[in-house]
Amino acid sequence: MTVQHAKLKEWVDSTVAWCRPDTVVWCDGSPGEYEQLMNRMVSSGMAIPLKKRPQSFLFRSQPSDVARIESRTYISTANRDDAGPTNNWVAPEELKATMKGLYRECMRGRAMYVIPFSMGPIDSPLAKVGIEITDSPYVVCNMHIMTRVGTKVLEKLGADGEFIPCLHSIGAPLAPGEADSAWPCAPLEKKYISHFPEENLIWSYGSGYGGNALLGKKCLALRIASAMARREGWMAEHMLILRLTNPAGRRFHIAAAFPSACGKTNLAMLTPTIPGWKCETIGDDIAWIKIGPDGRPYAINPESGFFGVAPGTSYSSNPAAMDTLKENTIFTNCALTDDGDIWWEGMDGAPPRHAIDWKGRDWTPASGEPAAHPNARFTAPARQCPSISPDWELPQGVPIDIFVFGGRRTGVVPLVHEAAGWDQGVFMGATASSETTAANIGAVGNLRRDPFAMQPFCGYNMADYFGHWLEMGDRFGNKAPRIFYVNWFRRNADGKWLWPGFGENSRVLKWMCQRLEGEVGAVETPIGLMPRQEDLDLTGLAQSAVDLQELLRVDREAWKGEVADIERSFAQFGDRLPERLRHQLAELGRRLG
Ligand code: GTP
Ligand code: SPV
Ligand code: MN
Repeated sequence: MTVQHAKLKEWVDSTVAWCRPDTVVWCDGSPGEYEQLMNRMVSSGMAIPLKKRPQSFLFRSQPSDVARIESRTYISTANRDDAGPTNNWVAPEELKATMKGLYRECMRGRAMYVIPFSMGPIDSPLAKVGIEITDSPYVVCNMHIMTRVGTKVLEKLGADGEFIPCLHSIGAPLAPGEADSAWPCAPLEKKYISHFPEENLIWSYGSGYGGNALLGKKCLALRIASAMARREGWMAEHMLILRLTNPAGRRFHIAAAFPSACGKTNLAMLTPTIPGWKCETIGDDIAWIKIGPDGRPYAINPESGFFGVAPGTSYSSNPAAMDTLKENTIFTNCALTDDGDIWWEGMDGAPPRHAIDWKGRDWTPASGEPAAHPNARFTAPARQCPSISPDWELPQGVPIDIFVFGGRRTGVVPLVHEAAGWDQGVFMGATASSETTAANIGAVGNLRRDPFAMQPFCGYNMADYFGHWLEMGDRFGNKAPRIFYVNWFRRNADGKWLWPGFGENSRVLKWMCQRLEGEVGAVETPIGLMPRQEDLDLTGLAQSAVDLQELLRVDREAWKGEVADIERSFAQFGDRLPERLRHQLAELGRRLG
């Protein structure tokens, strides 16, 4: 392949000179390339082919390299305040010097792959081109599924097109003759996931897992893109996109932001339990949103695959996901059954009597540890999803009617509430909270603020991001989507889910759509508008199974506690916090009395 782009050639050449790989491979994105890399990984023992699923493979990571690592993730801006109080910061020169030291000869004994990829359909006006350089063939295969890879991207780039350089190394050079391990990576203190938003640059070192290594996803499509979006007047959000069609044929497009492992993939692939309503999937993790010619917000899914949480996925909770995973899927840190299939906690039916767990050890239900890691994942092509919308690759995107925020809260936050206007909706996003999950390495179950589900993904000062949302609302004017807040995760005193969730969430989405149509009521509460019990369609649900009164209860005393916590969270932004949000907080406090 002849590469026309001088700047790209120069970057690749200088990386080769610094990292010293044995060979350089320019990826063409072809099925043959994928097959060849997989075959090689099978031969080396890194990948295990699955007898039960055609063209599907299991990988087991190093037990220390199982998720994103927020503590090692940096937003490096010249001015510390531009990264803001919610991001780790090191000055660009210092961070680059440290990382250059690590990158030096870090690819010895390995091949270096150059992956040209497009986030968004190549012909979309919202698409962005990235080039990932990596020494991990696992990353190349995952990028084939998650993004649009190959020669056509280089063609679009031409001689001087704009691209976002994404440098990745697992940080595990091989000495001559040294045997490779099944999941090479660097120790925690040498891992860095670094972003230089002022020059649209990503440097990642030391981890081979998920968002740390598949740099098109969180690094480019959220952290770098959010900073670009603010400069250029669009939005990059941690949101699923779905289309809901009511029995009369009216379409609603919903974009919902929940923190990691809090239900985006599941909601995106919703199988409605209410008759006559149909759901189509557009995206399950990221939305890029731009104002269309008619003044409405239009959203595309910049990805082309799903990197989804495996545990809990089953035919009863998410049949569309299960059918997506039948072939051409990469599984990471799932358990291996004796008949050559994968398994994880929460899959349908009884657990296998024996399996090999994610660490490669014998496992039985008596083992006392999960067989799959809680952040075990599948990588599967979006086109294989039975609920994928025929319009999922529309270059201009789909017009958004409704934004939803949410999180995982055992108590306090009701099943659903609605904002009376844009500012209150932005306040709901800015104050979103959730218990932490296994999607990040760190404590699980800790309650924290996770504004707009972007706490780990905002590439600039979060207070300025709040301001950007307010500004976008001003531009949308009367075309602004309505905003709701949900919590599927309330538990009773015995720790049981109060709401059945999954397909039953369609009942809550129906109420939202009917609110837009003016077909259903709501009552004002101190925290926002809420359905009366009779406003939610519970037909066919065993009424005794759902304590709707508890699910819709607003506990004033508990909410005063929320206000105090929001005050603390807002205080970290100082003067940079938009006045309109300060006003919303004061109003909430006043309404709670
Ligand atoms: P990321 O890929 O990390 O961004 O996660 P996500 O937001 O896509 O979360 P996902 O849909 O994969 O769900 C994470 C976990 O929450 C899975 O174990 C699901 O089974 C569970 N879950 C999803 N939706 C619901 C729900 O409505 N109720 C309950 N109880 N659990 C849910
Ligand atoms: C998330 O953590 O929100 C994910 C998984 O979607 S990862 O790609 O690892 O970031
Ligand atoms: Mn995510």
